[in-house]
Amino acid sequence: MSTTSSTNTAKTDLEGVRVADPEHWREGPPHELFKQLRNECPVHWSGGMTSFPEEPGFWSVTNQELVHEVSRNYQLYSSELGGMVGMPWVQLEVQNGMFIGMDPPKHGRLKSLFQRGFTPKRIAEHEAAIRAITVAQLDKLEGRETCDLVSDLAQPVVSRVIGSFMGIDEADDAMWAELMNRLVGGDDAEMNPEGPQDVIETVIPMIVQRCQVLIDARRENPTDDLMSILVHAEVDGDTLSDWEIVMGFILLVTAGNDSTKATFCSGMKALLENSGERQKLIDDPELIPSAVEECLRMFPAFAHFRRTATEDTELGGCPIKKGDKVMMWYPATGYDEDVYEDPYRFDVTRNPEHQAFGAGGRHFCLGTALARLELRVMFEETLKRFPHMEFAGEPRYATAIFVNQLTTFPVRLSPGA
Ligand code: HEM
Repeated sequence: MSTTSSTNTAKTDLEGVRVADPEHWREGPPHELFKQLRNECPVHWSGGMTSFPEEPGFWSVTNQELVHEVSRNYQLYSSELGGMVGMPWVQLEVQNGMFIGMDPPKHGRLKSLFQRGFTPKRIAEHEAAIRAITVAQLDKLEGRETCDLVSDLAQPVVSRVIGSFMGIDEADDAMWAELMNRLVGGDDAEMNPEGPQDVIETVIPMIVQRCQVLIDARRENPTDDLMSILVHAEVDGDTLSDWEIVMGFILLVTAGNDSTKATFCSGMKALLENSGERQKLIDDPELIPSAVEECLRMFPAFAHFRRTATEDTELGGCPIKKGDKVMMWYPATGYDEDVYEDPYRFDVTRNPEHQAFGAGGRHFCLGTALARLELRVMFEETLKRFPHMEFAGEPRYATAIFVNQLTTFPVRLSPGA
């Protein structure tokens, strides 16, 4: 969908629609369908996932008020019971090994190991380092006519940032990025060419094996990175098992790898499509933090997280049964007409609140301050270096129901220079 126009197309009969089917996701999130759902059926039942016939049906929640209601009530809507994402190729055992897939009290104990390091104040200490990483990557593009914004800029920058937090060698950044992309983009043929089944058979065992090397090294010699925190953590008087450490590693590295990259690239696409908005940021870089929030609203890095009902209940007038899956679709809530005026208009001065980081509650994103800082620095430095960047080909979206990202975005760096 364009970032400037509203939607007004023929209505679909919502009964029988399966929201997670790939046919709706080939060009990014199904904004027209989401608009209809918000207006006619904000709690909607899909009978299953056609690509994964064993998967049960699920409820789709598409407005902010109801996503808020689900997010805040972990007693009724569990992250642990049935997995926190609708990615059938990632076993429940893996999802539950990460604290994002746990319920209190264990969730809180693990999350608290990291919270101090992720406050806005502590994260601000990394600004110079993040800027240096971004500038070094932009330096590599000097003299080139074109590049791919995803693979030549965004991916290497975010991989180095999270890599430096985790204590990963720079030489291994690309290898970890590839493994994590295959894991989370399991349903997209470009991100994971071997198909979803390969995630269980190859990708996860490979991650476990390579992580073991990092774990063993830190057992021997503690370091001051996040991996060392996991290796030496004491939770309820016990250290974490190797499996729990690997799952903690996966959570932080996937979150770091796929999130800001996604929002940055879609944000750049919107800026190239809306040159007036781009000019506002070039003329007044103080507007960039507001533009970051607008990009998060319109292009949230993750399309959904999921919960499972712990007992029979009711949501927006719909009967939810114990065990039912509930998907919260963030690309739908970012355009909620009850919250935003002219929601399809990309407006860098809007500075909106949004649910891209979750809608509050226990699982609210740990990485908000880091993501905001990375996005601000990446926009600042890219717009400064290449203010006249242009499209050099068609960007391509992942056909994926979890990651909401471009996999390719060819740009001309300095037209006419
Ligand atoms: C554009 C950037 C990002 C977006 C849109 C985003 C989005 C989200 C969302 C929606 C959740 C809530 C999950 C739920 O309710 O089940 C979440 C949780 C989380 N995020 Fe982020 N994230 C971003 C960046 C990051 C970064 C850079 C990190 C850092 C490593 C990070 C680490 C985490 C972690 C660890 C959780 C789990 C928190 C918990 O379960 O308590 N995120 N994120």
